[in-house]
Amino acid sequence: MNAENVRKAVKQKYGQAALQTQTAKASCCGPSRAPSACCDPITSNLYSVQETGEVPELAMRASLGCGNPTALAELKAGEAVLDLGSGGGIDVLLSAKRVGPQGIVYGLDMTDEMLALARENQRKAGVENVKFLKGEIENIPLPDNSVDVIISNCVINLSADKDRVLREAYRVLRPGGRFAVSDVVVTGEVPAEIRRNVELWIGCIAGALRDSDYRSKLSAAGFRNIDIEPTRVYDIEDARQFLAGQGIDVDAIAPQVAGKFMSAFIRASKPV
Ligand SMILES: C[S@@+](CC[C@H](N)C(=O)[O-])C[C@H]1O[C@@H](n2cnc3c(N)ncnc32)[C@H](O)[C@@H]1O
Repeated sequence: MNAENVRKAVKQKYGQAALQTQTAKASCCGPSRAPSACCDPITSNLYSVQETGEVPELAMRASLGCGNPTALAELKAGEAVLDLGSGGGIDVLLSAKRVGPQGIVYGLDMTDEMLALARENQRKAGVENVKFLKGEIENIPLPDNSVDVIISNCVINLSADKDRVLREAYRVLRPGGRFAVSDVVVTGEVPAEIRRNVELWIGCIAGALRDSDYRSKLSAAGFRNIDIEPTRVYDIEDARQFLAGQGIDVDAIAPQVAGKFMSAFIRASKPV
């Protein structure tokens, strides 16, 4: 799959997902036909009742991630945070509360429909310490050493150039800054039928890095203190759900990947 085709397919899919959230819960990470968040093994039940009450309903409905990076990132008052692939803005809005009025949260996304949705959610939330930026995570439109924390929720797996994303993340972090990201990760080999399936790439499966590759790419970018903590491991029934309807022999492939795909929290830091 070439990088430009991946980018176009991802943009188109998430543009549609942004429009769908106005009327119903869209699905993205996970099976493309999931009728609601309750049934999607990847995006369902990521936020606490308290967090749900902290953001506009539309922002919660637009949640298309695979984890809850804000809950795990230990954000402090006054920090500058950048969310890579901010979508409808849920993690940006939650982070804005954590860093308070002295802090700032940037949400970066390449999809116009998502940016419009996120700005609408910001308006409804009445939050001012937030800026949504248009751009690509492979080319972050912020200066060197400008943020304290990078969060992201199920986006890095979508990139066709993950080395570049991680180098850019390192560049914009201040010395001592933290990388605190939720993403889909895989342990072991993934069948070629999955890797080359575009629908499964835009569904956050086919582009997932192996855990060992995530570590070595983070290390090559300059990061230290790397840790990958599984937050949800996908069993055979989950695998059946996310593989269904993609032109794949589910009975043959699901047993091969059961227990290998997981959502994980990935931590690393930029040396001081
Ligand atoms: C799976 S959704 C996750 C959205 C959000 N993080 C959440 O948890 O709801 C992926 C988002 O990343 C954006 N995205 C994907 N690849 C991107 C890239 N290379 N540069 C910038 N944004 C990207 C998409 O437009 C979409 O909004």
